Amino acid sequence: MDVISSCVQEVCWAPFECCGARCEGYYYAMNHRKILLGVSGGIAAYKAAELTRLLVRRGASVRVVMTRGAQAFVTPMTFQALSGEAVRSELFDDAHEAAMGHIELARWADAVLIAPASANVLARLAGGMADDLLTTLCLATPAPVAVAPAMNQQMWRNPATQANVALLRERGTHVFGPATGEQACGDIGPGRMLEPPALLEALSSLLASPALAGKRVLVTAGPTREPLDPVRFLSNRSSGKMGFAVAEAAARAGADVALIAGPVALPDPGLVKRVNVETAAEMHTAALEHLDNVDVFIATAAVSDYRPAATERRKIKKDQATLQLSLTRNPDILAEIASRDDAPFCVGFAAETDRLEEYALAKLRDKRLDMVAANPVGDGQGFDSDDNRLIVFWPEGQREFPLQSKTSLARELIDLIAERLERKDEEN
Ligand code: CTP
Repeated sequence: MDVISSCVQEVCWAPFECCGARCEGYYYAMNHRKILLGVSGGIAAYKAAELTRLLVRRGASVRVVMTRGAQAFVTPMTFQALSGEAVRSELFDDAHEAAMGHIELARWADAVLIAPASANVLARLAGGMADDLLTTLCLATPAPVAVAPAMNQQMWRNPATQANVALLRERGTHVFGPATGEQACGDIGPGRMLEPPALLEALSSLLASPALAGKRVLVTAGPTREPLDPVRFLSNRSSGKMGFAVAEAAARAGADVALIAGPVALPDPGLVKRVNVETAAEMHTAALEHLDNVDVFIATAAVSDYRPAATERRKIKKDQATLQLSLTRNPDILAEIASRDDAPFCVGFAAETDRLEEYALAKLRDKRLDMVAANPVGDGQGFDSDDNRLIVFWPEGQREFPLQSKTSLARELIDLIAERLERKDEEN
C-alpha cells in the first residue's frame, strides 16, 4: 500500500496510508451524519462556509444556525446554498418552528459543532445561558457538542475565556483548537480557528462510532484452498471483500481486531492484525490461537467444508479415464467456537443461492450462534461484487440491510453487533 501525502479523492485531509479503504473509513465516519453547525460572529465565519461544503461532500446532512453576530460576516444565503437547508438564527421564528421546532432540531443532531466559537459564545455556553437559538440548542441537545474557538490572541489568553473553556471541557464539551499563528487583526498568537479540513477530521474522529471500544474481535475472511496435489486445489469464489470490510469497520469502532485471511487479492485493511492462511485446517488453528479474550467472533470466511483425504506429493497425471476424489470433512470453525462454554458473541454468515431465510435460521440454531448474516449469492450477487445486501437474524429478531457498498454495510453490521452484544452483556 502506497503512503501518500493526501487523499487523491480529496475526501481526506490527513496524510493517510491510502488509498481507498482508509479514505472510505473516514468518509463513512461522516456519511449520513446529521451535523448542526453553529456559526458565531468572527472573521473566521467565512471558513465555516468551506467547512459546510466539506461536510456535505462527505455525505453529512448539515443544518446551520447563525448568531446575529455571524450575519455581519457571512450571509445566511451562503450557508443555505451550500447546505441545501434553510438557515436558522431566531429562536422564536414561527415559520421555522412549525417546520422543525428547536427541541426537535436539538434532538435531530448527531453532533453540534460551533465554528467559529467566539469568546462571547464560549462565555454564554459556560454560563448555561439560553438567550438565543444556538445556545438554547446546545443546552437541549443530547448529542456531543464541540467548539472551535476563534478570537484575538489576547481575548483567548484572558483568564475569563480560559476559565470558561476549562469549565466547558470539564462538562464534556469538545474543544477543537485553536491554532497559533498570524491573526486577521495582525497579532500573532493562539486564537486562530482550525482550518476546515482539520475540523472535519476532528469531527470525524468524534463521530467514528466507538461502539466496540476496548473489545477484541476475531474475523475470518476469504476462501480456503484445499490442495489436491502441488499445483491444484479445491476452493470457492469468495473474494474476502465483506470480511475485510467487517474487520476494518470493527477496528474503526474501536476494537482490537485480528483478521484470519484465506488467499485473497486484497490489501491490508487499516488497523488490524492480519494472519494469512491457505487451508481450512490452518484457518482453524489460527482462529483458536487468536481466541484468547475475544469478545466477538465474526466468521465471514467461506471455509471449504471438505478437503482431499490425501494430498498427492506429485502432480496427478491424466492417465486414467475417470478420477475419483475422496474427501474428508473439515472442522467447522464457527460451530466449534460457538459451542465452547466461554464462547464469544458469535456471528455467522450464510451465503445461499436459495431458501435464504430457512437455511440462515437453521445455521443460527444448529451452530448455536448469536447472530447470522444471510446474503444471496449467484446471478452476479455476493461473492466478487463490491455491493451486497444482508438479512441479519438473531434469536429474537431480524434486520434487513438493503443493497449498498460492502464498506457501508460492514459499518451498519458492526453497529448492530455492538448493540446486540451490549444487550447480551446486560442480560448476563
Ligand atoms: N464456517 C466455519 N467453518 C467451516 C464451515 C463454515 O467457520 N468449516 C462458518 C462460515 O464462516 C460461515 C458459517 O459457518 O460463517 C456458515 O458457513 P456455510 O459454509 O455457509 O455453511 P455450512 O455450515 O458449511 O453449511 P452448508 O455448506 O451446508 O450451507
